Amino acid sequence: MPQRPAHLFLGALLLLLSTSCTGHDAGARPGAAGVGDPLFPKLGNGGYDVTHYRLTLDYTPGTHRLRGTARITARATRALSSFHLDLAGLHVRDTTVNGRPARASRDGTELTLTPATALPEDRTFTATVVYDGEPKTLTDPDGSQEGWLRNADGAVGLGEPTGSMTWFPGNNHPSDKAAYDITVTVPRGYTAVSNGELTRRDTHDGRTTHRWRTREPMASYLATVAIGRFEIHTTTAGGLPQYVAVDPAEAGASRKVPGRITRITAWERRTFGPYPFSSTGAIVGHLPHLGYALETQTKPYFAAAPDQRLIVHELAHQWFGNSVTPRSWKDMWLNEGFATYAEWLWTEQHHGRTAQQTFDDFYDGTDDESDGIWSFPPAAPPSSGRVSDPPVYGRAAMALHQLRTTVGDRTFFRILRTWLKDHRHGNADTKQFTTLAERLSGKDLGKLFTTWLYAKGKPPRP
Ligand code: TRP
Ligand code: ZN
Repeated sequence: MPQRPAHLFLGALLLLLSTSCTGHDAGARPGAAGVGDPLFPKLGNGGYDVTHYRLTLDYTPGTHRLRGTARITARATRALSSFHLDLAGLHVRDTTVNGRPARASRDGTELTLTPATALPEDRTFTATVVYDGEPKTLTDPDGSQEGWLRNADGAVGLGEPTGSMTWFPGNNHPSDKAAYDITVTVPRGYTAVSNGELTRRDTHDGRTTHRWRTREPMASYLATVAIGRFEIHTTTAGGLPQYVAVDPAEAGASRKVPGRITRITAWERRTFGPYPFSSTGAIVGHLPHLGYALETQTKPYFAAAPDQRLIVHELAHQWFGNSVTPRSWKDMWLNEGFATYAEWLWTEQHHGRTAQQTFDDFYDGTDDESDGIWSFPPAAPPSSGRVSDPPVYGRAAMALHQLRTTVGDRTFFRILRTWLKDHRHGNADTKQFTTLAERLSGKDLGKLFTTWLYAKGKPPRP
């Protein structure tokens, strides 16, 4: 090693000492590999809180290759010597923290970054990950497909409950919501649709760049990018911009979709209160065998042309799930029970069965969707593979109907609106809901909630 003047060496030594031994860096430890979700222990990561994702993506449908840069802005919630991100598949090419090279290592879906110097508690830092590869499809614990899904002429990223990590690295758990700027470049002729609003679109050298912005907090499972040769329908209704993208294969069957998005968004604003985001819309893709829709933020994804009930359900999630998000996956009924009950309310108010009749049909087992609703209590799914099972939908909607009949319509809708207002853009859990319902009704609802949310088996007929 060449000789260096002594004062330079001393300076370097002092710098080293000051970064490793002083003040807030003392006690810096590695961040945890999960946030402690009882059903999904590996999801999310400990020790930091993301405030913003800037995802710059480039995708070519013909080759299926994704190139991406994720720039993550986060706050350390304690001093960190290293921290984890969730990422499934893909190749990591370069990683930095605060602009300086950081060491990266991978183990399964855990990507660990070790910055050159520890990250002090309560300070903001930025991490960038440059990556590429063919993003993969994941099979969920319940057997359904999510992550990156391809069709003949495009692709879509869908992330409930785990799949967003197949197309970007992050803190993949609903308890850490953040703002997003998602920029996607695709070959000319394709459109890349994502959450929020399109702020700019331009074409250079045969490739079109789309810039999408989501300012309101979003959980990672609600982030999406859909790439295809979409037909685009835009309008503004009730002061809200609306963007509907339709796959050409579904165009005929989707003629009524834009109008329905407008009317159902308006009905839900009247029923649940202020719309939580700055735009509404939908993506009608063409994945006929997917078997589900997803409430991706501001633009629910439909795998084929949706009927009105399904639109009611996915748009209701914009309030229940997307704005007010469960703190852990075991509280999934806070999403699905409410979105299902929104369907019952919509049917009741549009010349169909009353919610009481739907309740009775579920209780008697005569509704097509009532199969399997008694297999476990909705607020306590027994395993990760069962968070989207019938009790979490149908029996949880029955619980809400029992609440409504017990406290009356006025108080019931006041509970819903207060819930949405108190936790707007946040996270919440079952206990907070039951406590609110008791406070606003002035009633002891312990038995009702135990019976309908927590007790095994079919409750006695009310
Ligand atoms: N949330 C979706 C809906 O209700 C359904 C769904 C899709 C889902 N993928 C999931 C639920 C994974 C749980 C887990 O329309
Ligand atoms: Zn749902």
